[in-house]
Amino acid sequence: METREARIGIVGMGYVGLPLALLFSGQRFRVTGFDVALNKVETLNAGGSYIVRIPPAAVHEAQTAGFHATSNYSEIAEMDAVIICVPTPLNEHHEPDLSYVRGTVESIAPYIHEDQLIVLESTTYPGTTEEVVVPLLEAGNPRGLKVSRGLTDPGVHVVFSPEREDPGNDTVERRDIPKVVGGCGPVAAELAAAMYRTIFRRVVPVSSPSVAEMTKLLENIYRCVNIALVNELKQLCMKMGIDIHEVIEAAKTKPFGFQAFYPGPGLGGHCIPIDPFYLSWKAREFDFRTRFIELAGEVNTAMPYFVIAQIAAGLNEMRKSIKGSKVLVLGLAYKRDIDDLRESPSLTIIELLRDKGAVVAYNDPYFPTVGHGRHYDLNMTNTPLDNLGQFDAVVIVTDHSSYDFKAIVEQSQLVIDTRNATRGISSSKVVHC
Ligand SMILES: NC(=O)c1ccc[n+]([C@@H]2O[C@H](COP(=O)([O-])OP(=O)(O)OC[C@H]3O[C@@H](n4cnc5c(N)ncnc54)[C@H](O)[C@@H]3O)[C@@H](O)[C@H]2O)c1
Repeated sequence: METREARIGIVGMGYVGLPLALLFSGQRFRVTGFDVALNKVETLNAGGSYIVRIPPAAVHEAQTAGFHATSNYSEIAEMDAVIICVPTPLNEHHEPDLSYVRGTVESIAPYIHEDQLIVLESTTYPGTTEEVVVPLLEAGNPRGLKVSRGLTDPGVHVVFSPEREDPGNDTVERRDIPKVVGGCGPVAAELAAAMYRTIFRRVVPVSSPSVAEMTKLLENIYRCVNIALVNELKQLCMKMGIDIHEVIEAAKTKPFGFQAFYPGPGLGGHCIPIDPFYLSWKAREFDFRTRFIELAGEVNTAMPYFVIAQIAAGLNEMRKSIKGSKVLVLGLAYKRDIDDLRESPSLTIIELLRDKGAVVAYNDPYFPTVGHGRHYDLNMTNTPLDNLGQFDAVVIVTDHSSYDFKAIVEQSQLVIDTRNATRGISSSKVVHC
């Protein structure tokens, strides 16, 4: 690792894996990116990018440091370390879908070798590394390699190290986010620490993969529960004529014991709406109910429906109904300034509006079109912001910083603001919710 001779393979060239590959390339490692999506492999090998915040120049620069992408798992044999960053979604029954992790481990197992480091970064429930990854690796390699447990044990070294990235958050440099590492054995933990120290300022070793898996879930459940809390208090504040945002700003001045979370139209992204349910599912094995998670899920899932009720109320004041109204949804991304719409509340809001008979359009600078996904079937194209007056209501769901909210309010008949994006703009046309 120190001499940069180690070859690093990263499986899953998505929002997590690709930036990670570039970080290691930036430290002069020769990195290989593995992905089953042939179009991604081709784009990367052509020096292109499919993630907005990663410019093609960054991929090109990595190529000059030896980066290339492949779908050929036999190249795993040439790697000294393999980091797995594949999706961990929920299935239609709201249960962990580990098929991507299993598929990856089964594919790499035939090519693993003695002293190789295998790291799982995908968010998952405590126990996954020991109960799923280790058995598949041990059963799937033809040389009968085992996972190393003791200081002098031969074998392959296995680690769980959660990804903690916060897309769109530029306030903390990625290398300043401490990296938690939990190894199946002491050598695994030390190898992973040596690798990650080349790109992160601080490595936090923990005693086992399960502790590292649980750490990631605690962090995301903490967010999920606190967001649910402010979402509920927002609804009470609205009834009481109190501005929740003013309350949060005042509470934030307390120098200890309080961290600000903000209400919104509901949860989105591949993490906060999903990860907590990995734990509630696992808890059932122990005859245990994670009531905070369930309650937070209930409150947060209801938020898009609350927004619909506010749109209906706003239109009602104008003697209109949702049915037949033209509604523009501003923002598809699940949060500001990113090009990711997974689990975005916008998608639910658009579908609910359509179900109620509204004529719905959207605007999002990051998405020229939106088609069909696991949970939606929209097939729409981006609507420019040049004729806002034609819409009966404009709903701010994502507060992209490129939006000129003052102009949007001026030109619209009615604005439903779910993000407090129009703060400081005084207008009777705005409904804050
Ligand atoms: N996106 C985030 O902000 C974020 C933050 C922290 C943690 N995570 C976690 O990181 C993991 C990855 O998330 P992501 O957002 O990068 O997902 P993603 O969908 O952007 O990327 C995953 C990539 O894996 C590829 N893939 C799927 N199966 C594969 C296989 N068998 N072999 C090789 N490649 C395969 C897909 O084609 C895709 O390119 C998830 O567990 C997620 O919960 C994500």
